[in-house]
Amino acid sequence: MTKTQQIENPYIPEPARIVRHYDLVKDHRFFQVRHVDMKRAMSFTYNPGQFIMLSIPGLGEAPFSISSTPSRPGILEMGIRKVGKLTEALFKKKDNDIIYIRGPYGNGFKIDQMRGKDIIIVAGGLGVIPLRSILYYVLDNRDQFGRLFFLYGAKNPDEILFKTEFFQLKNRVDIECLYTVDVDTSGEWTEAVGVVTRLFEHLPEIDPSRSAAVVCGPPVMYKYVIQELLKLKIPKNQIQMTLERKMECGVGKCGHCVLDHLYTCIDGPVFTYWDTLHFRELI
Ligand SMILES: Cc1cc2nc3c(=O)[nH]c(=O)nc-3n(C[C@H](O)[C@H](O)[C@H](O)COP(=O)(O)OP(=O)(O)OC[C@H]3O[C@@H](n4cnc5c(N)ncnc54)[C@H](O)[C@@H]3O)c2cc1C
Ligand code: FES
Repeated sequence: MTKTQQIENPYIPEPARIVRHYDLVKDHRFFQVRHVDMKRAMSFTYNPGQFIMLSIPGLGEAPFSISSTPSRPGILEMGIRKVGKLTEALFKKKDNDIIYIRGPYGNGFKIDQMRGKDIIIVAGGLGVIPLRSILYYVLDNRDQFGRLFFLYGAKNPDEILFKTEFFQLKNRVDIECLYTVDVDTSGEWTEAVGVVTRLFEHLPEIDPSRSAAVVCGPPVMYKYVIQELLKLKIPKNQIQMTLERKMECGVGKCGHCVLDHLYTCIDGPVFTYWDTLHFRELI
């Protein structure tokens, strides 16, 4: 197979090199990877909210959200939790080792309808991984968006992902970062304590017709976060959520992710709140 064939056929896994990795928290690791073919690496583009299929030959393949932003081309970043066969093997890999990726897949966030608006990003736990992509996209294209609010909650301070970089963001004047943990026993946590919805108390007045929200977190979080966003009168089609389903192929062929007539791998993983009103099983 030639390199050109690989580029033309997005279903064929392409070799990528691990250029950097480090532990985010226990059993959660950050991976920075780059296509081995440098031209491909530089031309590879995607939307925040899309995912790739990552594989290790003989060990399997699974979807992972892209956590980097297309505004910083050349590398792809992921935050991965060790849960099973593939991720255990991945955690044994070292820098410079080769893995395989295909994609990008899925729809991603509707960025065009977010431009010019205030953006509220609400993340819970692992949900911050895909939202980190849109977060940096907005920061890298700051003049295209209104105010930016980043609300992030984790169970406890030891489970905050990307802690160093997210705390550095607090020094910027063009973003309001609000962080919380459900419980703090460390005594060193300086931010809020309580569930992520408590952070809405700290938001300034917003104009709902000029605001858009993106949400990702554990299933239990959506109901309560959406209640808060509806209290702010944000239109239902301006609330976007990224939702995970069991996926196999990622390209609408195997049927593993189908709900009613929706293929969550191609019609999602990003849905608006409006969509979920019609397909309640999505959440
Ligand atoms: C669109 C999308 C984006 C995603 N993005 C991310 C991401 O950014 N980061 C991330 O970490 N994950 C992400 N995931 C989830 C990831 O794809 C899965 O965790 C993947 O299955 C891991 O593969 P694995 O082979 O390591 O684990 P698997 O072996 O597939 O295990 C997956 C789950 O099944 C359980 N399990 C495994 N074996 C058994 C067994 N024998 N009996 C009972 N339970 C079992 C495991 O405990 C685990 O919870 C995403 C999923 C989707 C659909
Ligand atoms: S994962 Fe195969 S159809 Fe969606």
